[in-house]
Amino acid sequence: MSTTETLRGHPRTPSSPAGDELARDRASLPLAGTGATGVAVAGWGYALPARRVTNDDLAQSLDTSDAWIAERTGIRERRVSGAGESTGPLAVAASRAALDRAGLAATDVDVVVVATSTPERLIPSTAAIVAADLGITAGAFDLNAACAGFVYGLTTAAALIGNGLAGTALVVGADTLTRFTDPDDRATAVLFGDAAGALVLAGTGSSAPAHPGPTEPAPPGLVSCDLVGDPGGIDLLVVPAGGSAQPASADTVAAREHYLQMDGREVFRRAVRAVATSVDRTLARGHCAADDVTWFVPHQANARIVDAVLPRIGIPQERTVSNVDRFGNTSAASIPLALAEEADGGRLGDGDLVLACGFGAGLTVGTVLWRWGTPG
Ligand code: ACO
Repeated sequence: MSTTETLRGHPRTPSSPAGDELARDRASLPLAGTGATGVAVAGWGYALPARRVTNDDLAQSLDTSDAWIAERTGIRERRVSGAGESTGPLAVAASRAALDRAGLAATDVDVVVVATSTPERLIPSTAAIVAADLGITAGAFDLNAACAGFVYGLTTAAALIGNGLAGTALVVGADTLTRFTDPDDRATAVLFGDAAGALVLAGTGSSAPAHPGPTEPAPPGLVSCDLVGDPGGIDLLVVPAGGSAQPASADTVAAREHYLQMDGREVFRRAVRAVATSVDRTLARGHCAADDVTWFVPHQANARIVDAVLPRIGIPQERTVSNVDRFGNTSAASIPLALAEEADGGRLGDGDLVLACGFGAGLTVGTVLWRWGTPG
């Protein structure tokens, strides 16, 4: 099994390697500046908290209903993290599943990127915690691009591999937004779920033309991307306290300022426009049309946002991946979770063109066109 339904009972990692392994020989890495290489997806995995919370469960304590939530969002249930299922452990479990699937060891990883806006702790980074738990001595860093984070992580890792600066990358999207939402705020408490998803990327070593002609074989990996911001939306999704601007205090907790505050209606309006524009730009940069896309994997925030985007970008529902009904909005985890489920189900195959688009606080938008390919 490459996937991890629950953290419970998962075997512990081997102990961390000795310090001298920090200096492991990286001479086998492709040299920087030698040109682009294809990037294969060597492994994938995900982790979910065990507890399933339905809309009816939420309606026991909130003035809401299954009908309202399902109709306005498409969400029917979500997973909510319990003890031992915070962002770090979820990210570790997803990473371990992806490495197992790839048949790779911790020492094979050259860089770890964890996309999260709900880190295990403010310091150290969640990536450092994941690396320590797995026994990875390679560089590890967090990246916060909210719900678009995994797309940013994927493009960053692909660039590092493509430029010969890393041979193998572990890219994780992990979030536990239920821990940052006010359980008494029906406008936000019904939207989010917790999860982590991970991909292991590996350079194929072969030179990869960015836009192959009709007779050339298409290499796996990054075809094109679009990483953009909508600064007009900076105040639409905010956790006011707990950062350097407003450190956590008894007052901030009393004012519930450690919880997410959101103008959902305005996020909705801007997201539809931004996703459609970013997708068009990404397809144009990749010299591709909507018809070329095998799977559209949008960030799973709200089924109605996706419904509004599809006619604008010309991709039908049948080629659009959706799991928001089962998991809600899992932020940076939503795209890798969807990809891992599709790959496990055999619906993603070598050569498939995947168009993934994330959007979130910032507002931050990221779209990637990726040719799926596994090593071999
Ligand atoms: N149950 C019942 N009624 C509710 C609920 C609820 N859970 N939440 C809000 N309502 C009420 C409101 O109070 C309002 O009542 P009123 O008309 O009496 O004032 C009414 O329902 C309509 O509220 P709207 O906010 O206009 O509802 P809308 O159709 O816009 O749906 C929603 C709200 C689901 C939040 C939607 O705006 C949305 O999905 N927005 C996008 C949010 C999003 O994607 N956020 C995540 C971004 S990712 C990240 O970075 C974390």
